[in-house]
Amino acid sequence: MNDSIHGGGTSSGKDDSPVPHQPVLYHEVLEALSPSSGRDYLDGTLGAGGHAEGILIASAPHGRLLGIDLDLEALTIARQRLMVYGDRVIIDQASYQNAPEILKRIGWRHVNGILLDLGVSSMQIDQPERGFSFMKEGPLDMRFNQSAGSSAAELVNTLNEKQLADILWKFGEERFSRRIARAIVAARPLHSTEELANLVQRAVPGYEPHLHPATRTFQALRIAVNQELQVIAEALPRLLDCLAPGGRIAVISFHSLEDRIVKEAFRRESRDCICPPEQPVCTCNHTATIRLMSRKPVTATEREILENPRSRSARLRVAEKIEQAQSLQG
Ligand SMILES: C[S@@+](CC[C@H](N)C(=O)[O-])C[C@H]1O[C@@H](n2cnc3c(N)ncnc32)[C@H](O)[C@@H]1O
Repeated sequence: MNDSIHGGGTSSGKDDSPVPHQPVLYHEVLEALSPSSGRDYLDGTLGAGGHAEGILIASAPHGRLLGIDLDLEALTIARQRLMVYGDRVIIDQASYQNAPEILKRIGWRHVNGILLDLGVSSMQIDQPERGFSFMKEGPLDMRFNQSAGSSAAELVNTLNEKQLADILWKFGEERFSRRIARAIVAARPLHSTEELANLVQRAVPGYEPHLHPATRTFQALRIAVNQELQVIAEALPRLLDCLAPGGRIAVISFHSLEDRIVKEAFRRESRDCICPPEQPVCTCNHTATIRLMSRKPVTATEREILENPRSRSARLRVAEKIEQAQSLQG
């Protein structure tokens, strides 16, 4: 279920400068969104702009793209990369949760395609000062937006033992959650990734092969720091409302917790009735607003996994806005 079981991400080689993020399921995303000229697209997790660039190339000469990310450094890289596309691109620092407000502000009524490539980028993992990796000594930060919200250090140093154990259990499915939480509380204050990684290593009894003992703890803290699961669940219905009739949404998730939320949200919105199955008569008045493009998620080919091991856990789900649903809403 983890996105980083082989050491917390990719390595940038000899120095610690971030390498451009290699977009996963690139061709599959472009096939799913089939961008074309004159249409508008939203990339809600712009990162280094790899997928976004593909969308802009495929939608030349008149396709437009709104790219959003919480991470200022990623936006600087993406801005540089996408500069050549001029006024076909708008870039903003925000959560994809707030995309509807941004679209309204820039005067785009709907978009014809939406991409969410969830989670952390290899650029972020490769930067020790961001605190995402247990393999690199750095401050316990883990925030996508470094100027807002509580850092991982604030969480580990202020939450009580039960709250910490709950986070490790719920967001990391860490079976030694209580043991690790107890060790954290006994050892704090903790300031660095190395301190935390070593503490976890000492606290857990055995080793799973190929899995660093701190993998689940780091994943859980990152999800808690950025409230990732809550944001996806709240954002999906809002984003579906922004899709034009016939428009598609593509979501790439990297672990089962995320994928479950996407699957449930898509399933719910693709049904005409969402009453409990035991209820004999429908009272919900719900109508399907999307059509699922496939029941099973799309996964990376063996070749992509060989070239980019991070793609191994990627799951792509795609849905299409039903034409009638949009016109019914007006
Ligand atoms: C896997 S990377 C995306 C990579 C991108 N598709 C590319 O081709 O380079 C995920 C990005 O999502 C961003 N992110 C995570 N949560 C976000 C949120 N709620 N709103 C906006 N961006 C978010 C992260 O900062 C990170 O840059």
